[in-house]
Amino acid sequence: MTKTTPLNLSASTTQGPLENLERFTATGTPSNIQHLGVYTSGGDAPGMNAAIRAVTRTALTQGIKVTGIAHGYRGMVGAEWIPLDTRAMGNILQRGGTILKTARLPEFADSVIRAKAAAQIRSAGMDALVCIGGDGSFAGARLLWTEHKVPIIGIPATIDNDIHGTESTIGFDTAVNAAVEAIDRIRDTADSHERLFIVEVMGRDSGFIALETGLAGGAEEIFFADNPVTVDDAINHIRRGMARGKRSSILIAAEGQKPGRAYDLAESIRKKSGFEAKVCVLGHVLRGGAPSAFDRNLASRMGLAAVEALRRGYCDAMMAWVRGRIDGVPLSAVIGKHKRVPDEWIRMAQTLSN
Ligand code: F6P
Repeated sequence: MTKTTPLNLSASTTQGPLENLERFTATGTPSNIQHLGVYTSGGDAPGMNAAIRAVTRTALTQGIKVTGIAHGYRGMVGAEWIPLDTRAMGNILQRGGTILKTARLPEFADSVIRAKAAAQIRSAGMDALVCIGGDGSFAGARLLWTEHKVPIIGIPATIDNDIHGTESTIGFDTAVNAAVEAIDRIRDTADSHERLFIVEVMGRDSGFIALETGLAGGAEEIFFADNPVTVDDAINHIRRGMARGKRSSILIAAEGQKPGRAYDLAESIRKKSGFEAKVCVLGHVLRGGAPSAFDRNLASRMGLAAVEALRRGYCDAMMAWVRGRIDGVPLSAVIGKHKRVPDEWIRMAQTLSN
């Protein structure tokens, strides 16, 4: 592959927002990356393959060799290398999941394991890494830079959208669309049988999937950690609807720390009001499927920008979607920060569901 002229990213991508990032080259000098590693880590998300494709194709056009690292940090420690070329990137843009597979490796909290990973990267000749994953994956990535000076850029990919510093994470839009389609289907049978349904969505303690799904699906109440709504509020809401002749309702619940929380809510509603609620747990259905156009293009923009940031000598940062453009955010400003659902969005959901 012949080297082409450096990609001319829009000024909004490479100036200004990147200037506050850590540099691994002397200020102002581009890096001389020859070999890039890319991996997916943590829960998979629709759009990860689009990000892998963009990283790989952008690097190859710059004459940079690309190696895929299978199974996230587990594969890094085990030297599970997969050479990536343009042909390998064919026909993956539209596929959910990740061709590099993914895993969680709690052992990466051990500095000895991290040192082994860094040594494997060095012995494979990789100059820098792109980490496609969530908050936990970025914590490991940051340590590879701070402890072993492996330049690294993160691309936020998780259906939860719980990563501080970016308005959207890869996979979130696709998961919300899948959840809304499910709500529309449930609404048909709830209406036919005049039933109450509680639909549980993923997101752990984050309420972004629940809120966006509840808004788009017209749910009566949305239960998630940042929303102070109670079971009594939900029962009163259902009763007000019944007084207006409404005979079916749909409530949304974020799973919280353990899947199946919706069953606890149904039991609490039954005990307090006598209302019988059917429960539908969407679970891992929200993790699969073809990525939406938004997620494909978000992933592609972030993948291209990640390689360009590294080529310009930046690292220890995450590509972020901010006001319709790609920014760079230091990982130190992202990791471990709670991303709260805005109160005005919660009030909006309450207003529109009355
Ligand atoms: O972090 C993404 C996520 O889908 C969460 O919403 C969910 O609670 C978790 O992953 C499930 O993890 P696993 O697929 O390992 O069960």
